[in-house]
Amino acid sequence: MKRETLILGIESSCDETAASVVRNGHEVLSNIVASQADIHQQFGGVVPEVASRYHVEVITAVIDKAMKKAHVCFSDLDGIAVCQGPGLVGSLIVGLQAAKAISFSHGIPLIPVHHIAGHIYANAFETTMQFPLIALVVSGGHTELILMTDHHEFEYLGRTLDDAVGEAYDKVARILDIGYPGGPLIDQLATTGFDTYHLPRIWLDKNRFDFSFSGLKSAVINLVHNAKQRGETIDAANLAASFQASVVEVLTEKTMRALEAYDVKHLVVAGGVAANSGLRSALTEATKARGINLSIPAFKYCTDNAAMIAAAGTVNFEQGNISDLGIDAKPNLKLS
Ligand code: KG4
Ligand code: ZN
Repeated sequence: MKRETLILGIESSCDETAASVVRNGHEVLSNIVASQADIHQQFGGVVPEVASRYHVEVITAVIDKAMKKAHVCFSDLDGIAVCQGPGLVGSLIVGLQAAKAISFSHGIPLIPVHHIAGHIYANAFETTMQFPLIALVVSGGHTELILMTDHHEFEYLGRTLDDAVGEAYDKVARILDIGYPGGPLIDQLATTGFDTYHLPRIWLDKNRFDFSFSGLKSAVINLVHNAKQRGETIDAANLAASFQASVVEVLTEKTMRALEAYDVKHLVVAGGVAANSGLRSALTEATKARGINLSIPAFKYCTDNAAMIAAAGTVNFEQGNISDLGIDAKPNLKLS
């Protein structure tokens, strides 16, 4: 009888080309990420055409490196998990084609994975997921509260009605002209400033779990423009701290309300913004006070990586959810 499950994960939905080998859904044998952030920095955001070209250039080397680092060969693998969507179509296709090629030539099952399921399953490296749980998903494209009653059973409790929180971070960084991607830079800057600008907290309906960040973003833009017109200088560190204080307060408060409303005792956090120091400490404090079990992935598993795809794919594989080679990239894939 086979004792272990060995899955190769591949992720290429945006501007990271990544491959990873994971054993039994939680032991990471290798985790290779080739980031294109430096390339897109000059444009202030991801340029889809440039992203797909770069994925094509590096995908084979990235997979090769992940296999070598894990000391495994293709015949050792039980499955190949690949991000099928959502994401940039040209980027997704590159990872999917690579996965299909290996699957076909070595006769290894192909396992499609939803990008957000991947982010959530990055928590499998930290903890055993206990259901029901609530996942707070905060990334460049998503801001969602999701109830999970079992593996791969997702129910949306709320989501952003406009900008994703990471997107708001990136836009504010652009207004402050501090670089790209903006999230980590604002986070860093915020630690040197104070919440002096008193920006709005956008609650919407306090008893519902949807979010809105475009009003906050506009408040920052207006503040900067008005100061410029008046010839006043902005204290960038204080503005970063004020912006972060608003974001963290709303995310933390709404998440605590959702945990209470659904009587859930396990919170997992997922996505690039889970790396945010202010959010991490606010959630740690709030969950501790309420006796909630909190899991936040290590920094390297918060932003896009393929270990998370392999972890989510392992559960799919064990549930028999494998696919034929006819599947396509799905830029708007729904989490179901
Ligand atoms: O999950 P991710 O790598 O890609 C998407 O699936 O979107 O998230 C990227 C987002 C970017 O908007 C980036 O600015 C943000 O996560 N981010 C952060 C931090 N680190 C990354 N935002 C706030 N604080 C951070 N420390
Ligand atoms: Zn992501």
